[in-house]
Amino acid sequence: MHDLNQSNSWKSLNDHYNEIKNISLNKLFKDDTNRFNNFSLNFNNMLIDYSKNHINKKTLSLFKNLLIEININKKIKKFFDGKKINFTENRAVMHYLLRGSYSKNNKKIYENDVEKSLKKIKKISDKINSQKLLGYSGKKIKNVINIGIGGSNLGPKMACEALKYYSNRKIHLFFISNIDPTNLKETLRNINAEKSIFIISSKSFETIETLTNATIAKKWFLDKSFDKKNLNKHFFSVTANIIKAKKFGINEENIFPFWDWVGGRYSLWSPVGLPISIQIGFNNFNKMLEGAKDMDTHFRIKPFEKNIPIIMACIGIWYNNFHNCETHAIFPYDEYLKLFPSYLQQADMESNGKSITKNNNKTNYETGPIIWGDKGTNGQHAFFQLIHQGTKIIPSDFIGFINSLNKIGKSHEMLLSNLIGQTKALMQGKSEDEVKKTINQEKNNNINIDSIIKSKSFEGNKPSTTILFDKLTPYNLGKLIALYEHKIFVQGCIWNINSYDQWGVELGKELSNEVCENLNSNKTKNNLDSSTNGLINFYKKLSHK
Ligand code: F6P
Repeated sequence: MHDLNQSNSWKSLNDHYNEIKNISLNKLFKDDTNRFNNFSLNFNNMLIDYSKNHINKKTLSLFKNLLIEININKKIKKFFDGKKINFTENRAVMHYLLRGSYSKNNKKIYENDVEKSLKKIKKISDKINSQKLLGYSGKKIKNVINIGIGGSNLGPKMACEALKYYSNRKIHLFFISNIDPTNLKETLRNINAEKSIFIISSKSFETIETLTNATIAKKWFLDKSFDKKNLNKHFFSVTANIIKAKKFGINEENIFPFWDWVGGRYSLWSPVGLPISIQIGFNNFNKMLEGAKDMDTHFRIKPFEKNIPIIMACIGIWYNNFHNCETHAIFPYDEYLKLFPSYLQQADMESNGKSITKNNNKTNYETGPIIWGDKGTNGQHAFFQLIHQGTKIIPSDFIGFINSLNKIGKSHEMLLSNLIGQTKALMQGKSEDEVKKTINQEKNNNINIDSIIKSKSFEGNKPSTTILFDKLTPYNLGKLIALYEHKIFVQGCIWNINSYDQWGVELGKELSNEVCENLNSNKTKNNLDSSTNGLINFYKKLSHK
């Protein structure tokens, strides 16, 4: 099938959309008293409640037809067999191998490369975690500074924050990503070179932000420690480009290699996750891999009706392509998961922000949504107003944990009540009649009652999916991340795009280099467009060189 719009199942979904678009969520619940059971799944204490979505059994069966039509089983098999599905870079996509989900086709790669890499991660992280790694002056290493950007930053940073509860509090982790020197300067201000190691994390070892920061860090370190030999005890690298890392001055023993078949935004399971293993210990890191592996197996073997990533992918497509929703929100109701939405932004938007199909045509349908979000309950007091009463429909995922890691009084119950309460309020709304009953005429003497009624009523009918786990553990985090990875995969298959390249970030890099040359030249430039010229000339007028 080449043209999605022409496919029978897509057309049927379109007809079905017109059939059910005016049926409210409240009505769907009223008509089916068993709706929660019919539209939720429990995978070993991980609950997915997708009943508060604009779907019925027919919606899902039509999506099933679509998946059969695009031959999803064959695509999943190709993926897990390590076929080169990232065809614009001629690479396989095998991040699942890093957690032991091999097939007979790639078992050898697991045994030869991944196991060796895991051993190396274990060795160094055990040493640092138990404070046995000593710096050049014999002092214990206490600070670990990860220098990397994109996938070499967002994944490990998010997971370290998410699993902070399990961390060795004597080790302090810092993540430097931005080329803005403030990021590095503010970190270096508070650390002692003798007690610090740097991990230069870059798959390509070519990323300008990372190389610039790594060079500044190296100079800072050498200014303090004087001897180049000391680099061997303090500089490490995680990279697929060993030659460049060595050229930078990193001892080969300190290099943690990984492979072109691990995409940057899927790399936290690889040595890119070294900071995670250092922070929470290798055993916990391994539990995170186990959680992801269990999700891989679930995704690989469960039929459509019970397959969580597939169902979530279909619901996402339903809103994106039929309801014309442009964004998808992620609301983790857990302080530790506060970086999860920004992690998912890269995972999803860099993967599915494409408009060329695998057949080299421009898509004539929408692809990846804008992913955004924030932790609950903070979002409720910031932007939830728009979700409740604005003009846009924002499908949202609410993520929570039944048991708190930091139980104090009833705070956690209130947090969870807010999560569940919000999904109910979004769906149910509040009619004008209901509002009328609650209005105290006397109290509102000076305000027009009609405007109060209108402003205080809620249309409701706003969709959400709820994901609940027993507890935030490394295992459950692994499961959660892998769930979204596979959801992204399935959506990419439906849109018939390559979810694993990222050429869209290249032009900006190229033009920044051109602008940089201009900023540094003494001549006034007028050969670019007038806006770019204007900005460069304004810079030159005000900059203190
Ligand atoms: O520019 C985008 C990107 O290539 C991301 O895909 C990647 O995660 C990031 O840059 C960092 O790349 P590297 O790990 O090679 O430094």
